[in-house]
Amino acid sequence: MPSANLSFPPDFLWGAATAAYQIEGATQEGGRTSSIWDTFSHTPGKVLGGDTGDTACDHYHRWRDDVRLMAELGLRSYRFSVSWPRVQPTGRGPAVQRGLDFYRELVDELLAHDITPAVTLYHWDLPQELESAFPSGHAAGGGWPERDTAHRFAEYAGIVAEALGDRVARWTTLNEPWCSAFLGYGSGVHAPGRTEPVAALRAAHHLNLAHGLGVQALRAALPARARIGISLNPSAVRPLTASAEDLDAQRRIDALANRVFTGPLLKGTYPQDLLTDTAHLTDWSFVRPDDLAAIKQPLDFLGINYYAPAVVSAASGEVDPSAPRRDGHGDSPHSPWPGSESVLFHHAPGELTAMGWPVDPTGLTDLLLQYTAEAPGVPLFITENGAAYDDKPNPDGSVHDPERVRYLHGHLAAVHQAIRAGADVRGYYLWSLLDNFEWSYGYSKRFGMVYVDYETQARVPKSSARWYGKLAATGELPEAED
Ligand code: FCB
Repeated sequence: MPSANLSFPPDFLWGAATAAYQIEGATQEGGRTSSIWDTFSHTPGKVLGGDTGDTACDHYHRWRDDVRLMAELGLRSYRFSVSWPRVQPTGRGPAVQRGLDFYRELVDELLAHDITPAVTLYHWDLPQELESAFPSGHAAGGGWPERDTAHRFAEYAGIVAEALGDRVARWTTLNEPWCSAFLGYGSGVHAPGRTEPVAALRAAHHLNLAHGLGVQALRAALPARARIGISLNPSAVRPLTASAEDLDAQRRIDALANRVFTGPLLKGTYPQDLLTDTAHLTDWSFVRPDDLAAIKQPLDFLGINYYAPAVVSAASGEVDPSAPRRDGHGDSPHSPWPGSESVLFHHAPGELTAMGWPVDPTGLTDLLLQYTAEAPGVPLFITENGAAYDDKPNPDGSVHDPERVRYLHGHLAAVHQAIRAGADVRGYYLWSLLDNFEWSYGYSKRFGMVYVDYETQARVPKSSARWYGKLAATGELPEAED
């Protein structure tokens, strides 16, 4: 695709993203205790190859080098997450100073290199102790299905804000609450690996509440210049055909993937059709009268994580669980779609990444324009976008990843198109800075623009990193040459 004249606004923020459990390692150092991901990854059969985050990219010890690398590549911003059990090991009570110091030093190093830090407070590593708690005694565990976890999160948010608020201006409460709720408690392919449809719905609500209470705690602790938002992974859901049944499948998945979050966050209400679709499972009485007002906090930005669109249809006849994929997030006999388990997922035709996810940038343009309409006046950031490929070093050690460059080129052209059509997009974070622990896929999937040799921990910028650095330096989309 010719990209002449595709220039981005001068103050557009070019960054890369990571998450604590995926890169830090050092899971037993500095007073950190286990998160649900430590427990899950150490449970046989949960993560491919038995991989764990014990060492990951050893970023906990190599962060200075990693920041230098970011500066060399020309990044203007870095989105990382704070590990909750590193700063508040039991999920309650006083913080561990060494944990806070780690992030404070990281932030100072970023600022010294003129790289804007963007903090995500929760990227899935709940302190195990909060999952092990049984506040109401009715479920297989505590965690997000329990209301108290939302209050714990708000307390933790306040602690981190007090510690970093003088030097960090960009704050994200939660990363992809859909995954926390529906993969963590529905299909069970993510930690804590529970497969309880009602717990998944309760988790979604308590994550929404955690966001709302968290924003309030952040605003109380942060200076007025702080910008606070959330990163969602909205799904561009498309019907397989225009039949009434397939349109209904689309509506159902849109409710469970998107509107279960944007309803309360943006409108202060849960969509009626979602309540109806799930009425045989729950009466939603876990939503208390004041919750919706607490959740609908003004947002300074909305973060969108995008990888691929979803194509859905109604089930016709017997469902063959081995045929169309349920959701593209790993295989489980349990559905992540409470009340809409029979909806089928299909691959859009065309190229797939190493995750088996289709390459289709049109979904990104669609979502950016959709949220421009649904959240008027709220600036948008792409807080994650990228692709996994089977990158391998050449004999000379270099790593050439033309597929990733093409993927990025296509998706950035799609962002540009949305901006031209009126979307207020302020920045883009490539997922990911480094190859890292890709959750239930372990180290088998490489999303980095920097290759990591897990034996030696050597970092090798791939050709996509150079390409992206050129873009960050000029604001002009370079050709996607091979
Ligand atoms: C997103 C996650 C991120 C990474 C990418 C590939 O859902 O937020 O941590 O795993 O997918």
